Amino acid sequence: MTDPALDAETLRERALTTLTTARARTTLLTSCVDEPDLTAQHSPLMSPLVWDLAHIGNQEEQWLLRAVAGRDAMRPEIDGLYDAFEHPRSERPSLPLLAPAEARAYASEVRGRVLDLLEGTAFHGTRLTEAGFAFGMIAQHEQQHDETMLITHQLRIGPQALTAPDPDPAPPFTGPSEVLVPGGPFTMGTSTEPWALDNERPAHRREVAPYWIDTTPVTNGAYRAFIDDGGYDDERWWTPDGWAHIRQHGIHAPLFWHRDGGHWLRRRFGVTEVVPPDEPVLHVSWFEADAYARWAGRRLPTEAEWEKAARHDPVSGRSTRYPWGDADPDPRHANLGQRHLRPAPAGSYPEGESPLGVRQLIGDVWEWTASDFLPYPGFQVFPYKEYSEVFFGPEYKVLRGGSFAVDEVACRGTFRNWDYPIRRQIFSGFRTARSAEGA
Ligand code: AVJ
Ligand code: FE
Repeated sequence: MTDPALDAETLRERALTTLTTARARTTLLTSCVDEPDLTAQHSPLMSPLVWDLAHIGNQEEQWLLRAVAGRDAMRPEIDGLYDAFEHPRSERPSLPLLAPAEARAYASEVRGRVLDLLEGTAFHGTRLTEAGFAFGMIAQHEQQHDETMLITHQLRIGPQALTAPDPDPAPPFTGPSEVLVPGGPFTMGTSTEPWALDNERPAHRREVAPYWIDTTPVTNGAYRAFIDDGGYDDERWWTPDGWAHIRQHGIHAPLFWHRDGGHWLRRRFGVTEVVPPDEPVLHVSWFEADAYARWAGRRLPTEAEWEKAARHDPVSGRSTRYPWGDADPDPRHANLGQRHLRPAPAGSYPEGESPLGVRQLIGDVWEWTASDFLPYPGFQVFPYKEYSEVFFGPEYKVLRGGSFAVDEVACRGTFRNWDYPIRRQIFSGFRTARSAEGA
């Protein structure tokens, strides 16, 4: 999506490919378990899988068939059930939801009509259709729910339902542990990426003081040293809220970990395994990431620091779309798209590194940043305030870079995710930073 002057046939092809890829993933995630597992609530944090399925169809109907094509609601009586703001996740299992067969039929009926619509769409004229934005937004929405559904699968207690090949093994990373990012302004956000969402806009200049940032995400092995050093029992490392939270909930390790004699095991998609020391740590809260960083004599990077490390090209002075440049991601660059069901070892993907040599910024694990989720200067809601605007404020922390569970259509150098600082069922990890001397 680099060329602003893409012709209609190219846009049609892209819209079709991304929608089709998303639906294949949705179908897999909702057909690999039995009916009772689709309608059950596996965690109060999550919806039943069958809710995500019909919600995906309902959003697609609302934005593509109604907003773009001006059609009437297919089933007006179900809109309320699938409105995320009308019913919190905890309430969703008690709603009169469509049964799995009905939800599937509804989503596929919507999709059939959308594909007909796509045939005749001109990709200009309105902001929603310009460069196929609404189609891209809906493909991203489906992929975001595919990541949400994968989280539900991870929380589900039961036999293994999903499998994928492991990432290639990698020799222990022997490069420098941190990289110096020079101070000065860079361009943050985007005004040109056609499918970027409202919170990534507009492009603006940011001044950033020089800082050092970890070359790779923090590994399980490094995180274990924090645990072994009594990190969870030492109030010095924690913010007051973080300390209160871990005490109240008896938290002493990442989610899904448990100690077995001398070693740590974890549960991953129904299988118990030894925690691999060289893999980026996963399922930690912002509070845990922040405490680890303080223990290590460091801090979390700000969101601007993260993005400068990921996009700033010191030679051209430009911000690129991805750490490796402007090319769309491929499997040599990053671990994306649920191709693997775990992060790759720290130091993997040398071809995906940034010009300064920072690795694995895209894919593997979402990275907590120090920053609250706030609008950029000049932010404008588009197309609806419930995507971003209602979440702006100090309650949410920003995560960057995407995980192994997110598809490339919903992951860019500018893409912003956010969650509460207590959350850790998400595919969250982090890297650390420190201000450079004399900054
Ligand atoms: C951007 C991941 C925080 O899942 O709540 C899905 C994405 N928005 N449907 C979320 C989203 C509406 C959103 N996050
Ligand atoms: Fe949604």
